[in-house]
Amino acid sequence: MSATRQKSARMKIDILTIFPEFFTEVFDFGIIRRAKAKGIVEINAVDLREFTSDKHRTVDDRPFGGGDGMVLKCEPVFAAIENLLGTSDRTGFPKGTRVVLLSPQGRVFKQRVAREFSTEIEHLILICGRYEGIDERVTDALVDEEISIGDYVLSGGEPAALVVVDAITRLLPEALGSETSAENDSFSDGILDFPNYTQPREFRGMEVPEVLLSGNHAEIDKWRRRKALEKTEKNRKDLLTKENG
Ligand code: ADE
Repeated sequence: MSATRQKSARMKIDILTIFPEFFTEVFDFGIIRRAKAKGIVEINAVDLREFTSDKHRTVDDRPFGGGDGMVLKCEPVFAAIENLLGTSDRTGFPKGTRVVLLSPQGRVFKQRVAREFSTEIEHLILICGRYEGIDERVTDALVDEEISIGDYVLSGGEPAALVVVDAITRLLPEALGSETSAENDSFSDGILDFPNYTQPREFRGMEVPEVLLSGNHAEIDKWRRRKALEKTEKNRKDLLTKENG
């Protein structure tokens, strides 16, 4: 990294997980890789087993009251947060810090939540739960909010953390090559993106719509808007009827 890139990253993300290897390479591609190299984001996977104190490095245990599966214990999570923030007292967390638990019980992650995170947060701590759950004392004492990436159950929060980190990072200033790229994303104006074409003009009898070759930008904008609405109507009618962006 060049000497001019030594200033601290604009967003720091720590991911608390029992599977740190999951993240070994996933952030080393494309926009996230570039954002890391430019010092726009710093991403660390924090191994919760490093914060256990017994010889078996136990991170989970059976639920009180009975039931299936194992529950993520609270001690390693508290210890990891204390290591990162110097305290596990939420009132003492530095300004700009947000502790988020990834779980199917959370607020659903949408583009507008990604925008909110990318503008409000300087230090994001993501806690990856297991599908069986996490000791509720973590949620009560440490977590600012629970986030779900959708109405389905993953075996753990790790894939959800990947999704959240990706969606936020690309919205950070200067993460994308062109300033306008994020403005034109699906959802940014409440509807889906319009269809795109590139070379060749004709492929196996399928032609690029004539209007895109016309050079008439007013007509192109009109066509794109119409196609975006058609696709939204077909695939995501709900976006047209309620605030969902
Ligand atoms: N962990 C398990 N399922 C999840 C989901 N849908 N979103 C976020 N974290 C999860």
